[in-house]
Amino acid sequence: MDLRERVVVVTGGGNGIGRQVVLELLRRGARVAAIDIRADSLDETAAAAGAGDRLATFVVDITDREATEALPPEVVDVLGPVDALIHVAGIIQPFVPLKDLGYDAIERVVNVNLYGTIHIVKAFLPLLLDRPIAHVATVSSMGGFLPVPGQTIYGATKAAVKLMTEGLYSELLDTNVGVSVIMPGSVSTEITANSGVDLPAAVSAQAGPEDAGRFPMTSAEDAAAIIIDGIEKGRLHIHVGRDSWMLSLLKRVAPKRSMHLIQRQMKSLLAP
Ligand SMILES: NC(=O)c1ccc[n+]([C@@H]2O[C@H](COP(=O)([O-])OP(=O)(O)OC[C@H]3O[C@@H](n4cnc5c(N)ncnc54)[C@H](O)[C@@H]3O)[C@@H](O)[C@H]2O)c1
Repeated sequence: MDLRERVVVVTGGGNGIGRQVVLELLRRGARVAAIDIRADSLDETAAAAGAGDRLATFVVDITDREATEALPPEVVDVLGPVDALIHVAGIIQPFVPLKDLGYDAIERVVNVNLYGTIHIVKAFLPLLLDRPIAHVATVSSMGGFLPVPGQTIYGATKAAVKLMTEGLYSELLDTNVGVSVIMPGSVSTEITANSGVDLPAAVSAQAGPEDAGRFPMTSAEDAAAIIIDGIEKGRLHIHVGRDSWMLSLLKRVAPKRSMHLIQRQMKSLLAP
């Protein structure tokens, strides 16, 4: 599906990958509704875009079901019928093993990553089904198919997002709506700080929470281009970065070995 001149809703548009998806879509000629919980971040995205009325911003917390359900008519009022949803917003959990992770942190990450995904997809799907051609894409993670020590609940939410999106693919096969699930490897963003999480001292300033050690991090700009190209080609699975590609292969060929490899490289995340 060619996204030029389409109306595309992008969540998490205030920072990181989502912001770059917004900017790249605008460069390609789309009209974009950028959604985020942070008004100041959305203002920065709008200033970087300088796209006039092709960009509209909406401050919404996607864990708030009612607020999310109220969003589609507001977007249509400003930009017209919605052709695609690219759901990027998400957070990580504090770097602690499950036995030490409190229920407040567990509920927060489940609410944003899983319920937030359910809310936004259910809110926009009826609009997409009304279009001649449409697309829905969600962002899972390399951490959704390969466990990272200290990110166990995060990984579980991202695995759930992956399977939910694959379920949607099956349910929507005979419709006009295409489906993609995006699995980024390590992407250079400020997700740790934005999630309100402290990076363990043992981790270098360069390493991200999903840093796979041997691979270079992907820039948010490159991630955005890969995501949009993948959607335009109608790919179901979109891997972002060589780490995500290689480790998904290794996970299928040698499941336990791949887990041991990541455990060795990432166990410093749990160091005191
Ligand atoms: N950065 C990585 O290495 C990496 C790797 C794999 C997957 N991902 C996934 O990619 C997505 C984007 O991550 P990022 O690195 O760009 O992070 P980021 O922190 O830069 O951007 C995430 C955005 O989501 C917004 N957000 C958070 N909670 C929200 C809520 N309740 N309602 C609305 N908006 C909310 C934040 O304000 C922020 O602008 C996330 O889903 C993340 O899990 C990131």
